[in-house]
Amino acid sequence: MWFFDILILSFCYGFIYYFWKLISYYLQIFKIPKSSFNGSLEKVLKFINGDTKFLFEQVFSSLKVNGLTRSWVGPFVFINIIHPEDMKIIFTSKNCLDKPNFVKKYLKLRNGLVFGDIKPWKSHRKILNYHFGLQSVQSMIPMFNKKVKILIDNFEKMVGKKEFDIFYFVAAATLDNILTLMGLDLDIQNKDEKQRDVFIQDVKCYTEIVLLRVMKIWLYFDFFFDRSYLGKKHKEAKSSIGDKLVKNVMKNIQEIPKSEKNFIQALMDPKYNLKDTEIYDEIFTIIIAAQDTSAVALSNVLLLLAMHKNVQNKVFDELRKIIGNEIDYLDLEKLNELDYLEMVINEAMRILPVIPLFFKKNETNLTTNEGYTIPAGSNLFISVYSMHRSKNVWGEDAETFKPERFEKENFEKIHPYAFIPFSKGSRMCLGYRYAMALMKIQLANIIMKYEVDTSLKLDELEFKLNVTLNIVQGHMISLNKRDL
Ligand code: HEM
Repeated sequence: MWFFDILILSFCYGFIYYFWKLISYYLQIFKIPKSSFNGSLEKVLKFINGDTKFLFEQVFSSLKVNGLTRSWVGPFVFINIIHPEDMKIIFTSKNCLDKPNFVKKYLKLRNGLVFGDIKPWKSHRKILNYHFGLQSVQSMIPMFNKKVKILIDNFEKMVGKKEFDIFYFVAAATLDNILTLMGLDLDIQNKDEKQRDVFIQDVKCYTEIVLLRVMKIWLYFDFFFDRSYLGKKHKEAKSSIGDKLVKNVMKNIQEIPKSEKNFIQALMDPKYNLKDTEIYDEIFTIIIAAQDTSAVALSNVLLLLAMHKNVQNKVFDELRKIIGNEIDYLDLEKLNELDYLEMVINEAMRILPVIPLFFKKNETNLTTNEGYTIPAGSNLFISVYSMHRSKNVWGEDAETFKPERFEKENFEKIHPYAFIPFSKGSRMCLGYRYAMALMKIQLANIIMKYEVDTSLKLDELEFKLNVTLNIVQGHMISLNKRDL
């Protein structure tokens, strides 16, 4: 009999303990100011309807408050991080490396770096860090130089025509580069438009559905999601990327000489003892992490250059001065001399951050800059867009495109955690060196050859929230050949 008494007592104790923890958690959470994101019936309807433009406006209008706030997104409560000092606390903490559970559950890439569990992350990141260093980037420069010529040839067909959305051209170029980086040269840029766009749409669709799932609360449960239209589309996109790209990368890698060891070969090295599923998830993750981001980044810079002719002329002058009349080949040394171009890229990633928002989770209580406690286990919104446009951080002209902010003496005055297009700390973007080198080579080649123009204005752009920042109007640009 005493056995049952102990059992009941333990159960009661467990229940009270759990309940008490839950109450203390929410008591801490409710001390944090509420954001205006919590809404009326009309807002709720727009939200569950999956209106990602509305979501963008809501998330970032409320987050422009220059301090910590909390908001509910579907069944999840989020703590919105905006202040550079809070960013510093989070990015330097060993207890903020994990991602919220819904990210891992919805992306279904549990063994991959960006969306996976912390245990595989630690070992995979250690293996990969070496292969994403300066030396590896150096070895990829010839390939980047070769592939950009195809992009230029494809642009040639559009010269003198009316404005068109450059995104698909650019996205094909970045995917082509990324797959070749993995040892698989599918020559995607030379495929016909329909075939080319299928690859790109699959990647977009895969991440977009994850966001829609967050908004459509009833799809939280796999049982409903798997049977829904979105669930089926997500599965289709996953198998399409998996069959056409990931499996091909894995098969093809066997034929590449070991002396050309790239990072996929490193992951496959028997000494690391990784399972096929882990390698599969990692390749899938890197395609997702690299493809859309690099394409959006380059498209944004081109759009901003088209909007700001004075800046475009300065980029062109710098290219002429450092490179001469024509680009044959750009090596890393030359790329490093293109200071103004780098400032332009940085300013573009500040004002149009490629990933406007990303997620983290804290494993222990955190005390913020303003003295609030963020209880352990909270989901954190790292609100890049809000911080990058904050007047408190960047000054009254924060909404103006002004590359000179990144001149050494100006940038030194800005908080070191105020500019985070590639994140910061030990989970900072693995591929940022690749991304920067590729972007510089692409931009230098494009701007040397063409003058870009657009009728779009920066302050009239509308945005949709996806994993990357989506411009509703598209990246509409026209091209004219330069007279050299
Ligand atoms: C301009 C282009 C790019 C931008 C703006 C960008 C931005 C970012 C950001 C903000 C994160 C952190 C995301 C998070 O914590 O949820 C990240 C992570 C990551 N990125 Fe990039 N990225 C770019 C290109 C690339 C490329 C080219 C690659 C690979 C070749 C890459 C691979 C990764 C990986 C593997 C991670 C996960 C790192 C980790 O959690 O340890 N990215 N990137």
